[in-house]
Amino acid sequence: MKVTQPDYPSFQDLLNDELVSVPDCLREDTQPSVENIALDVGRWTEQSFFEREVEFLWPKVWQMVCRETALAKPGDYLVYEITRYSILLVCTEDNNIKAYHNSCLHRGRAIKSGKGRSRELRCPYHGFAWNLDGTFKEAFCQWEFEHENLEALSLPEVQVACWGGWVFINMDPEAPTFESYASILPDHFQRWRPEDRYVSLHIEKEIRCNWKAAMEAFIESYHAVQTHPQILSFTGGDNSQYDVWGDHVSRTITPQGVANPGQADRYSVIETVNDMLGDGGFDQAAELIGIKKDKLGSREAIGAVRKQQFRDHLDSDVLASATNSEMMDSILYLLFPNFSPWGGFHSQITYRHRPNAMDVNSCFMDIYFLDSFGSGQERPPDAKTIYLNADQPFSEAPEFGLLSAIFDQDATNLPEVQRGLKASQSRKVISASYQELRIRHFHSTLDKYLDIKR
Ligand code: FES
Ligand SMILES: [Fe+2]
Repeated sequence: MKVTQPDYPSFQDLLNDELVSVPDCLREDTQPSVENIALDVGRWTEQSFFEREVEFLWPKVWQMVCRETALAKPGDYLVYEITRYSILLVCTEDNNIKAYHNSCLHRGRAIKSGKGRSRELRCPYHGFAWNLDGTFKEAFCQWEFEHENLEALSLPEVQVACWGGWVFINMDPEAPTFESYASILPDHFQRWRPEDRYVSLHIEKEIRCNWKAAMEAFIESYHAVQTHPQILSFTGGDNSQYDVWGDHVSRTITPQGVANPGQADRYSVIETVNDMLGDGGFDQAAELIGIKKDKLGSREAIGAVRKQQFRDHLDSDVLASATNSEMMDSILYLLFPNFSPWGGFHSQITYRHRPNAMDVNSCFMDIYFLDSFGSGQERPPDAKTIYLNADQPFSEAPEFGLLSAIFDQDATNLPEVQRGLKASQSRKVISASYQELRIRHFHSTLDKYLDIKR
């Protein structure tokens, strides 16, 4: 339950100011109740805990691998590595995406690495070859293998699902379908159609912390006041709404275009609007809306300018029915364990956090920007991945623009989180009842996979 808090307007209160009808998915306010228990620091620091995840989490969950556009043509392949597992995804002759364990059935060499296009899946060691659909094709000196039925030696398959333009895999043949696993997610995103967007930016950065510590920094807005003070004039972190659906889906909606309630007396409406849109944003909004400046609300102003900016990229009926919320707010979902897409009609930022091989203290964070390009226009090619190592700040990717400063603030915290967790004397972490409930929800689902009884 939401605990008693200062009398700040809730996200639902802000929705009452919308001038168009508000979609049901934004009106959902699940008010989750997640038991507030302390968590042991070993979850983030101990190799033995990490290895339980390797055995019982990663082989069981649906996990995002790439965009469908990366496997669009027959023969396109891509290798996805997660802890000790290596999965080879291919586009077959009949344009289906299939996935196999990337391990040759002869003497085990990885069949492929990286990505590329290939007519067959041939192991570079002794030349065992499979067709793109995973059936056995040929081997040299086949008479040497009369004791084996080579014709029946198909590559063991991994489940694949496509949703929202993303490709997901699940190594567990008994896993629930993606649809039942993802619960409300496809329904909520029907309106925002990530499948119709292209990748305008993709950054993959190594961070020296446990993968969960990195993921957790993006599922609560409580840290914004201390870590990101420059956004308080236009980010209502304390107005955020936190939701949970079943075991696998949760959400934070952090309103933008309002000053954080705790610091609101420091900022005028004009400052809020200009800090978010850039200088002159408020005047532009007043001109667009054509009402007196002293009557103009900050979210209304920003919504109007955003709609103007997106008019060539979004259909007119989408623009007409879009709420201001969907043009500016951070509407951030998590599909357990590590896929975090933003909803809305603005740039849909999407995160993924993965362990770095078998290292409990290191991970990769992917940041994708999905942008609209207007119906009737040709889909632009997806942006090439920008790789940043653990010592390179996000600001080394100039394409990231002003946002890099915010992400560098997070990336500066994270190795220090890992250091502090290891140094902990209390051996536990505590969390805010409401604003950090998604973290406890995540860990309670993790416990189910790892069979940890509380
Ligand atoms: S290990 Fe692959 S062909 Fe021998
Ligand atoms: Fe942050």
